[in-house]
Parts: sequence; structure tokens; C-alpha cells
Amino acid sequence: MKKYTLIGPFKQILTMTGLPLKGPLSDEQLPILENGGIIMVDEKIHYIGSYPEIQTKANHLNAQNIPIQSNMVCLPGLIDAHTHICFGGSRAKDHALRNSGKTYLEIAKAGGGIWDTVTETRKATTSSLIEGVKKRADRHLAHGVTTIEVKSGYGLSVEEELKMLRAIAQADKECHPDLIPTCLAAHMVPKDYQGSPADYLLEISTLLFPILKKEKIANRIDAFVEEGAFSPVSIAAYFDNAKAIGFDITVHADQFSTGGSDVAVKYKAVSADHLESSTEKEIQLLAKSNTVATALPGASMGLGCSYTPARRLLDAGAALAIASDWNPGSAPMGNLLIQAAVLGTFEKLTNTEVLAGITFRAAAALNLKDRGTLKTGLLADLIAFPTDNYQEILYQQGMLLPSLVCKKGKLIVGIN
Ligand code: NIG
Ligand code: FE
Repeated sequence: MKKYTLIGPFKQILTMTGLPLKGPLSDEQLPILENGGIIMVDEKIHYIGSYPEIQTKANHLNAQNIPIQSNMVCLPGLIDAHTHICFGGSRAKDHALRNSGKTYLEIAKAGGGIWDTVTETRKATTSSLIEGVKKRADRHLAHGVTTIEVKSGYGLSVEEELKMLRAIAQADKECHPDLIPTCLAAHMVPKDYQGSPADYLLEISTLLFPILKKEKIANRIDAFVEEGAFSPVSIAAYFDNAKAIGFDITVHADQFSTGGSDVAVKYKAVSADHLESSTEKEIQLLAKSNTVATALPGASMGLGCSYTPARRLLDAGAALAIASDWNPGSAPMGNLLIQAAVLGTFEKLTNTEVLAGITFRAAAALNLKDRGTLKTGLLADLIAFPTDNYQEILYQQGMLLPSLVCKKGKLIVGIN
């Protein structure tokens, strides 16, 4: 039998519906339902409307009632479209070295960088990886993030990447947020690989890709296209193989040098992420494409680099998502709301543009059509902040936490 639940009244509901996927958004465009309520049916949203109207509907449906007795602003559960939260070890030493003036290359040579995390992740047991992912995912949930993309990329061999992706799949079963796995075996050429970068990529695509499909543990392939990682030319055959067997493509693009976004657009990637070094040429390219441009302010904050040109991307007509890039190296903070709010201030983004970037535009970056806005038929992933004015959320720069988190119709974080 279907289980109906009425939740409300909310002072404001930001449904995030009816807004374009691409281009600038003014705050006048933000759809705000005052004094509204939501009827959920099992895992989904059944109906959203003004509270008095919806109460009668709920009575007819014999709905259970979750009354809200204080002012709250409700919006879709946040979506973090780019993380690396499956890892072993810590890179606190890298951070200290960076802040004392050492370059990325010097740190890598001294045994730090991505390879250090690869070594620690390989040493870690599967159960400790699962526990690490769950711990980080549940912290994200308390901050209102109900869907989290999680990359592999610290295994860098068929077996070790499998270990990571299986750990992510298991963590997904054991934590509340949905985890969306991505294979990032092309994060860097493993230092211990006996062969060329092309041999490594061929080995991954011929041996690992079929297992990912068979076990259904990843439907997305990512690559770090960058000097010192993979060049646009060297990654082409890998992406050809991935596309041929139906994977979605996403790219770590234009972080320190350009080239990646060009590849992303060429391969019709669902998203091109980073883009701190994108110039007008890349901005125009992305704006004309259906590839979502994902800004990662946490990496800019972690490395002390410039922010992704989010304003220019939006003004050119691109779709802009904002994600945390939570990882042990460049973005250890892992707080999406703080980072999104800070990016908004530096890049002069409207509240609506920032909120779009962590809800429905982030859903598009993950090719997820069942979430990101609040409307009938979509997942009942919703969060509410203890305030009467939505502007308080970003104004408080991530320090105002949701007092209600509902994942697939289930109340995870309490009320009032
Ligand atoms: O997105 N840029 C490449 N990869 C990660 C960093 C990973 C790491 O340093 O461990 C990123 O910033
Ligand atoms: Fe990343």
C-alpha cells in the first residue's frame, strides 16, 4: 500500500522548477511558494501546493502528518557533482609544504601529491575505505547534501580501481545519501606501471571497463586532462572506447592549462570540471555545448588559485554547476555550501545561480533526471533551513545548517 506523508507548512519553498539549464539567472526568476506544503508518496513527491489547499488533499489520502512549527525555507536536497571522498591517508604535509612556498612539482618529487594518496589507498583495507566514505557522506548529509558523486582514481590499476569502486558501491548501500560512482583510473599514469601511458589506458579500457559494466559499479568515466597527467591526444582512444560501450564522459579540464574542455565538448561529456584556466575561447566553446561547466571553488581555496570564471561562463550562456571536489590533496575542506557561497561572492553570482549550481544544474552534470528540483514524480529529497528568508542561506556562508533533511521521503535529520 502506498504511504503518503504531508510535510509543512514551510515559510518558503524554493522548487527550483521552470528555470533554464543554461545562462544567467536573476533572483526575480526564483520560484518561491509562500506557506506551502509537500505531500510525499513513498520515495517521491506526490504534490506541492499552498498549505491550506494541500491539507484537504492530504486528508483524503489519509496522509501521515509531519507538522513544521517554526519558520523554515525548503529546497531540493543539494547535489555535490564532483568528489574524491574514497581515499586513505592524509595530505596535511602537502598543505604545509604548499603554504611554505613549495611548488606542486617539488611536492610530488618529495613523495607527495596524488601518488602519495594512491600509496595510502592501496594500503587501506576495503572496510576502512567503506567507513571513510560513509563518514564523509554522512557529514555531507548533515549539511544538506543528499546526492554525492564519488570518484575512484587512487587505485590506478585494474584491481585497485575495482577495490575502490566496490567500496563506493558498498558504502552507497550503507549510508543515506545516494553515491554516484565515477571511474577515474585516468587520474595520472601510475608510477609503477611498466609500459607507456597508452598501454595503461588500453589495459584499463579492455580489462576494467567490461567489469564495471557487468557489476554495474560505474557508469561514468573521468580523466585528468592536464600537463603531467593525460594530454588531449593521449586520452582520445580511451574516451572512444568508453563512449563505444555507453559510458557517460566527464573531464577534469583546464585546471592549470587548457585543452581539457576542448576534449570534453568533442566527446559530448556530461560535464567539464575545474576550468580555472579557461580563456574566452574555452568559455565560448562550453557555452555553445551541452556540457555542464562545473566550478570547484574548494580546489581554488585549497590551492590558493583563481576561481573558475563562473560569471563569464554564465553570461556566455553555459550551464554552471558548483561542486566541492572534496579530496585529500587540493580540497580537504569538503563543505559545499561554504564553497558555493564564497564562489558567489567572488564571482558575483546571484543567489539563484548559486542555488541552481548545487541543485538542478548539478543534477544535469550527473545526467540525473529524477532530482534537483521539487516537483511531482521526482525523488522526495528535500532540505529545510531554520529561517524565514531564503537569502539567509548563502548570506550566512554555509554556517546556517539545515534543520531538516529528507532523503527519498524519509526524515533523516529531525525538525523544529
Ligand atoms: O580534482 N586535479 C586532479 N585531481 C584532484 C586532486 C586530487 C588530489 O590531489 O588528490 C582535483 O583537484
Ligand atoms: Fe577532482
